[in-house]
Amino acid sequence: MIEDELESIKNECLSCQKCSLWKSRTNIVFSDGAINSKLMLIGEAPGFNEDQTGKPFVGRAGQLLDKIFESVGLSREKDVYICNTLKCRPPNNRDPLPDEKAACRDYLNRQIDLLKPRLILLCGRVALTSFIDTPLGITKVRGKWFDGPYGSKMMPIFHPSYLLRNQSKAVGSPKWLMWQDIQEIKRAYDALK
Ligand code: URA
Repeated sequence: MIEDELESIKNECLSCQKCSLWKSRTNIVFSDGAINSKLMLIGEAPGFNEDQTGKPFVGRAGQLLDKIFESVGLSREKDVYICNTLKCRPPNNRDPLPDEKAACRDYLNRQIDLLKPRLILLCGRVALTSFIDTPLGITKVRGKWFDGPYGSKMMPIFHPSYLLRNQSKAVGSPKWLMWQDIQEIKRAYDALK
């Protein structure tokens, strides 16, 4: 059963000491949402609110992410499986270090292996560079589909924290681009058999 296997990975994370982040975290942040979803979103790392609650994307950025999904009729709880490149919060929300990402990667790979999502959203620069070897930044590659594991398609998208810092909705602005991307994601989602 997928549930049991996920539970056993989660239990491994609870006692993981492969990097030093276990020392400063309050909770591990394993995942949220639907395990049978065709759509997976991979964010960066837990922040303060996520560390406190053990759930990914529950702070301001998470609330915006929920609205973005709702705008095309997708429910965060029922239609998306959400996780991060790291299970533990880096102190002061600093960027994940390469050795932390490497240490945590096996858990994420096993989540992907079990769920075999058809579409994977790489949310922000850290998730992008964890999966796609490109010299181009998120602004250049967002909205494009790349080949992912198990025949899936992966799309880099802006991180909602970036959208919170860029409030304009003018044509060509980050928020406007996200609106284009989420509509394309919904089209691809609806087209899945
Ligand atoms: N930002 C992320 O990338 N992930 C979270 O879970 C919360 C904020």
